[in-house]
Amino acid sequence: MTSDPRILNGKHLSEWLVDHEFRPRVERIKEEYGATPRLGTILVGDDSASKIYVSNKGRLASRSGLEHENLLLPSDSTLGEILDAVREWNANDEISGILVQLPLPGDLKNHQSLVVDSINPLKDVDGLTPINTSNLYRDLPGLRPCTPKGILRLLEHYHIDVEGLNAVIVGRSQLVGRPLALMLLHKNATTTIAHSRTKELAKLTTQADLLISAIGKANFITAPMVKDGAIVIDVGINRNREGKLVGDVAFDEVVEKAGYITPVPGGVGPMTVAMVVSNTIEAFLLQHREKA
Ligand code: GUN
Repeated sequence: MTSDPRILNGKHLSEWLVDHEFRPRVERIKEEYGATPRLGTILVGDDSASKIYVSNKGRLASRSGLEHENLLLPSDSTLGEILDAVREWNANDEISGILVQLPLPGDLKNHQSLVVDSINPLKDVDGLTPINTSNLYRDLPGLRPCTPKGILRLLEHYHIDVEGLNAVIVGRSQLVGRPLALMLLHKNATTTIAHSRTKELAKLTTQADLLISAIGKANFITAPMVKDGAIVIDVGINRNREGKLVGDVAFDEVVEKAGYITPVPGGVGPMTVAMVVSNTIEAFLLQHREKA
């Protein structure tokens, strides 16, 4: 698979980044500041997918030379307990980046914004706080959400310039669709966000030079929905009927038509995790430069 030049290999790039970018940067930081950036993750409840995501983030952080601490809170935690945990880490100089794994379980989901908004913006490695969202909207420097940032990094690595491309994003989530639309717009793509209520979706997707699916439905994007030679980015992480991990894109048929395509697994997922590491390093530097 890696030898097919049409496959955008996020796994390979994330490994490369650990060896050639993250570890050397962390080494330099240790020498210059006498401190090691530390990622703090908060996992509430015991959702099995969330547990895997958090452990992947911790593993890549450690491999990059960062310190990692995970706070596991029970699913019956109160909102106050979660906010207290975030505030404690906001005030703790040893924690460089804070990530509360989403979604929160049960009724806590209704208070997700309050929890996210309580994170110190300089430690907000998910780039979801009001200040970082505003910076993104205004195209000012700031911490950016990891999945869109990872997608842009992957495209850049393969020398794919999005300027002037007709980009269609399927999915309007706060974590992916909306921030990605702004980031592509800032890079001069012509950007459309489609979603579950969009009428005649295929009419839009067949016009896309760059098609990104983040809708969370297995085999949702089929070959007739894809323009010949399009760049197809699959953000979906779904289980099919046989329990196998698959994306939103019917890979086997779309790969025949696409100019470039990301696989699942091994495409966008590892890039998201890599950008958590990148943002933790960036957060450390933001905090230390602010003090200087
Ligand atoms: N759940 C799924 N993706 C993400 C992510 O990028 N950040 C957080 N905090 N939770 C997630």
